[in-house]
Amino acid sequence: MMALWTRADLEAATNGQFLAAGDGDVSGISIDTRTLRPGDLFIALKGDSSDGHAHIATALERGAAAVMVHDTTQCPTDPRILRVADTMAGLQALGLAARARFGGKVVAITGSVGKTTTKEMLRLCLAACGPTHAAEASYNNHWGVPLTLARMPREAAFCISEIGMNHPGEILPLAQMVRPDVAVITTIGSAHLGHMGSLDATAQEKASLILALPAGGTAIAPDDAHGLPMIVDAARKAHATLWLAGAQAGSTARYDNVESGPEGSVFVVELAGQSIAVRLGAPGLHLVRNALAALAACAALGADTHAAAMALRAFRPGKGRGAVSTVAQGQIILLDESYNASSASVRAALDVLSHLPASRRIAILGDMRELGAFADAEHHALAAPAAASADLVFCCGPHMKSLFEALPPARQGAWAETAADLAPMLAPRLTTGDAVLVKGSLGSRMRDIVQALEALPAVGAA
Ligand SMILES: Nc1ncnc2c1ncn2[C@@H]1O[C@H](COP(=O)(O)OP(=O)(O)OP(=O)(O)O)[C@@H](O)[C@H]1O
Ligand SMILES: [Mg+2]
Repeated sequence: MMALWTRADLEAATNGQFLAAGDGDVSGISIDTRTLRPGDLFIALKGDSSDGHAHIATALERGAAAVMVHDTTQCPTDPRILRVADTMAGLQALGLAARARFGGKVVAITGSVGKTTTKEMLRLCLAACGPTHAAEASYNNHWGVPLTLARMPREAAFCISEIGMNHPGEILPLAQMVRPDVAVITTIGSAHLGHMGSLDATAQEKASLILALPAGGTAIAPDDAHGLPMIVDAARKAHATLWLAGAQAGSTARYDNVESGPEGSVFVVELAGQSIAVRLGAPGLHLVRNALAALAACAALGADTHAAAMALRAFRPGKGRGAVSTVAQGQIILLDESYNASSASVRAALDVLSHLPASRRIAILGDMRELGAFADAEHHALAAPAAASADLVFCCGPHMKSLFEALPPARQGAWAETAADLAPMLAPRLTTGDAVLVKGSLGSRMRDIVQALEALPAVGAA
């Protein structure tokens, strides 16, 4: 395999200089010495609360092939030290250089929810068609996006980038760094509404991904997206082709005949004049929609959509993103959605809960964060779908109080200030045959509740 970066490449891309002559190409990139592998370039990034410069010696000890720094005052004079003006700018320069030399195709994915899920589906799909590189975890911000590019092997055929945002104006510069051939918008919803101000502003922001397409590129968006005119307008400005995806007649990519169960869904995708049978090993219509977007992206790249659909059979939801398991010695079904929550994803998860085979359905909901002044209204609006899908609802967090209080009394389990306070109240209320959904924003620490449920011994009979 070719080196990821030679020393000469690194100097040229970052306008930096090694402290002394040396040898040893770079095979990977690390920004954290705890996960550094021998042969990596360690980049000493400086954040608000931490500074990678404190870990230079560790990086060298662990076998880093190179260490990018901007402050050499504490540095040993090691030939592996690469001095640049600023390490964050250095990382971004490497990302740009990686993109410039890349001969494969690039897909960028944004959206209010479903970015990582769609990215992981597309990773499976494209890997069946050629060497594929994709963002790790949710690496979708000012360092995650260039890091993904900088790690891209030259010989890859496909690269998948996840692009996120919390504030207006964040997507376009990242998209311009990525220069996608295909741009996917998964959803437009109320996540981060507190910073965005309105759904229209959110749609405008997501649409800016499309502006980074080349003429003739393809944009893929939900056929029922809020702010569709803005998406249409962005595609027109970029001279890109717009493909709408969803269930509507006339959409470019359509799903149909969905049969869903707790193990997953079977459905048909109509795309580019083809009917493709798909089997997905995870339940939920939201995942069907993500899979549709992933297959549409494959088609837009000219990849083999049948091979891609076959590969999707191996898809399993990520930790905290809809994994279904049993706890309490198999007596209770657990739907773990503890990684994240926004209106759209809570509705999607409640829908999955309502279809799980159980004698009783229980929703355990923690606060959705980053909704600012919209928080109480957004939480309150979920009381009706929660009461429709769950027999009993437990809530924690200050905002969830407004949902809890809006529930019919028969549906009210209990409310507590924090997940830690709620966890011990649950066990006595659970019985054999229950299906339990746990969902909340990462900061609501709902994974503590998942852990408590996973540690449950057997529960009482109904
Ligand atoms: N299309 C969808 N519609 C509604 N909910 C979805 C959809 N796709 C995924 N979800 C749910 O939303 C949550 C977050 O999913 P995922 O991690 O894929 O989103 P993301 O956009 O990458 O989030 P982040 O901004 O945190 O990176 C999960 O609970 C997941 O099940
Ligand atoms: Mg993500």
